[in-house]
Amino acid sequence: MHKSKIAGIGMYVPANVVTNNDLLKYMDTSDEWIQERTGIKERRYAHRTEETTTTMGVEAAKIAIERAGITPQDIDFIVFATLSPDYYFPGCGVLLQRAMQMKEIGALDVRNQCSGFVYALSVADQFIKTGMYKNILVVGAEKHSFGLDFTTRGRNISVIIGDGAGAVVLKPTEKENQGILSTHLHSDGTAAEILAMYNPGTHANHWLNQKVADFNENEIGDMFMSHDMIDKAQNFPFMDGQSVFKKAVVKFPEVIMEALAANGLQTTDINMLIPHQANLRIAQFVQQKLKLSDDQVYNNIQKFGNTTAASVPIALCEAWEAGKIKDGDLVCLAAFGSGFTLASALIKW
Ligand code: COA
Repeated sequence: MHKSKIAGIGMYVPANVVTNNDLLKYMDTSDEWIQERTGIKERRYAHRTEETTTTMGVEAAKIAIERAGITPQDIDFIVFATLSPDYYFPGCGVLLQRAMQMKEIGALDVRNQCSGFVYALSVADQFIKTGMYKNILVVGAEKHSFGLDFTTRGRNISVIIGDGAGAVVLKPTEKENQGILSTHLHSDGTAAEILAMYNPGTHANHWLNQKVADFNENEIGDMFMSHDMIDKAQNFPFMDGQSVFKKAVVKFPEVIMEALAANGLQTTDINMLIPHQANLRIAQFVQQKLKLSDDQVYNNIQKFGNTTAASVPIALCEAWEAGKIKDGDLVCLAAFGSGFTLASALIKW
């Protein structure tokens, strides 16, 4: 069985920088509140009409493919992670395949929110290990700014989120001491509703303790997206921030320790931890709990906010470009998010 290695990595963030103070014109918030609670100073918002989740993914993919020393026509499978797709369906994978004029290869979309990129990487890793594919493009991209509640009602989540994309090319490696050592995936559906966008959807309140939208059960057709849902802001993400925080600080260290234990390694062996950029306070809590030094953890949420499925590859790419990840380093990727989902990967670079 082959191991897989990251042969090329790229990232793309939109040019439009939105500072905390820029948000004051939409909602009652403050630079001080946002920085103190989340560490975020600014984020990027995609161009409203000229950029989509897929086009940003394409920009990141071009760089990753070039750095891997191949062309888009050499890619033999796409895994695209996003929670903000261009269309409800079809997924972004096929749009990227078309935009990059790739062969008629398989394109799989992964919907695991903030853990999406690490899940996608794990899927790609299995295909390389079995020898089924040789050059897999894994993308995490999000255009959130199109679908956030920019009023005071939605401020707890809207101030956190940003747009961007990251991508890697996975290839087989013959080297004994290189590549993805293991990936670890988990879910806890008991917390599915603490961070969610309820509508449009087909649930018709089925899973919810309280009625969130009115339906006329005798009518057919208006239940997917109604005026009532829009009036109640259910077309925007909902987050119970404190519950998410409490779960994250317990589960995040667990999935990192699981990855280390599976490989007989210790926290001191980690050269670089790339945590999902959810909130600087959560990343700092994890760092303290695992007794990692500042040099062992990379954070860039201050500049980009939480870009969900794009956050891990963007941070990984920046850290690598800055020379903070070198050949032979042990890199740990870890993510948690809506679902509740959890994922980690250990990579010998
Ligand atoms: N600006 C100013 N005030 C805000 C605000 C904002 N953007 N968002 C919320 N508030 C207010 C609330 O309305 C509340 O006001 P009140 O006391 O008058 O009712 C007050 O701040 C405290 O709200 P609370 O939700 O208890 O704040 P918090 O300390 O839990 O911080 C988060 C909020 C969202 C920063 C925090 O819960 C968090 O980081 N959670 C995890 C989020 C996360 O990681 N999400 C991504 C998962 S992938």
